Amino acid sequence: MALLPVACGPSGPSANTPGGIGAGANNGAGLGTSDILFSGVLGADAINPNEVTVTWADAVLLPNLGGAISMRYQVFRALDAETAQLDSALVFTTEQGVTSFIDTGLPDNTTLFYRVVALDTDERFSLTAAVASARTPAEYGPGLVAFDTQVLPLWSTPMPGIPATTCLSCHTLPGPGQLDLSTLEGVLAGVGTLQNPNSFVIPYQGEASWAEFLARMSALPTLFQHLPYITDPEGLAAMEEPIKAWIAEGALATPDSAPPVFEFADEELAGTYFGSFVDFDTVSVTFPHAIDPESLPFNGSVAGQLEYAVYAGVDSNSIIWDKPTALITVDLNQAALPTVTGTFDWTLSDSLVVIVRPLDASGRGVPFDLNTYDPETATAQELENFRLRMRNQSSNEREMAIIR
Ligand code: HEC
Repeated sequence: MALLPVACGPSGPSANTPGGIGAGANNGAGLGTSDILFSGVLGADAINPNEVTVTWADAVLLPNLGGAISMRYQVFRALDAETAQLDSALVFTTEQGVTSFIDTGLPDNTTLFYRVVALDTDERFSLTAAVASARTPAEYGPGLVAFDTQVLPLWSTPMPGIPATTCLSCHTLPGPGQLDLSTLEGVLAGVGTLQNPNSFVIPYQGEASWAEFLARMSALPTLFQHLPYITDPEGLAAMEEPIKAWIAEGALATPDSAPPVFEFADEELAGTYFGSFVDFDTVSVTFPHAIDPESLPFNGSVAGQLEYAVYAGVDSNSIIWDKPTALITVDLNQAALPTVTGTFDWTLSDSLVVIVRPLDASGRGVPFDLNTYDPETATAQELENFRLRMRNQSSNEREMAIIR
């Protein structure tokens, strides 16, 4: 992300960087010079899983501070900050006067480090070591469970001992059951109405919904109707995983197909994205709800709809992208408020930079535990699960700077 400019003279921090500066060290282009005043890369921001925008301010020539329109820029990119100092990391040289670059064809779920160097018309280059990083979100991937193809067929499970009878025999209205299992609306309304559902489905909560489902099926007096299923529960057991997975993704007709976005341009949201230390080692962050209309559940409540991955770093160049510092879920109380607030522990520094990325529920069925996940020791399977779990993140983002 954005980085404070590092002023860099011949004795500056880049002077000893291998391959970074010095005669002949810049792809054979002329000489490094401190006559070019250039603060280097200002920001690198992922705009989707495969593209990053890199920006910088004009470079000028000393002593007159002219020459901005004739300056060209070299963009270096690497997978770590050190390698971004090497000539071999050069990916692009701009036309004169251009101060941004969109890097395309990048791998998803990857942290990239950018360095920008100014070139004057004499092919002299600035001594610029400043690096900014960007994290591409994981490749978009919709949820996996569609109602019609994966849930509806479950209701045709025959009653043990009476194969001609299925759930739908009684639960297609009009029939003995009030619950209409034959349509998505019927399932979501339960024995109430869509406006006031009395359904076993608790959106996004697979486990709790499954417990509710079993409890309702075996509640008196309905138990009698269902007795053969309860005493020979194989058919019910086969329903568990698909029903839980469907509900964990939001109990949608078709899987959500677009990531959420923050509406930063909405003026009503001005001043709602901030953070502060609440005590010595606890940081609180507040941000507006992100928008994800495709996955709004039938009850209209955003409780549980999105999770917010919080990435933090000592400064914007050292944001820990390999693993969110916290995952914040919106509960019923917060769903009714205009903003979301969450806290996390922070002992690394007195000031920090935070970025919040909302993600929808399409990866929520993937096994992942933030508390035990360690990118350093993770197996290939755990790394892949992490990528799948973190997919469908927004990539329009802002930094918040927090000082103790
Ligand atoms: C012989 C008829 C019959 C069959 C077969 C049957 N049910 Fe029911 N079921 C009922 C009746 C009657 C009720 C009580 C009225 C109601 O709630 O719809 C009921 C209630 C329920 C409820 C509780 C409704 C609520 O929201 O409180 C659920 C859930 C349910 N059934 C699911 C199923 C499933 C799943 C199957 C198939 C595995 C099934 N039923 C098979 C007759 C049947």
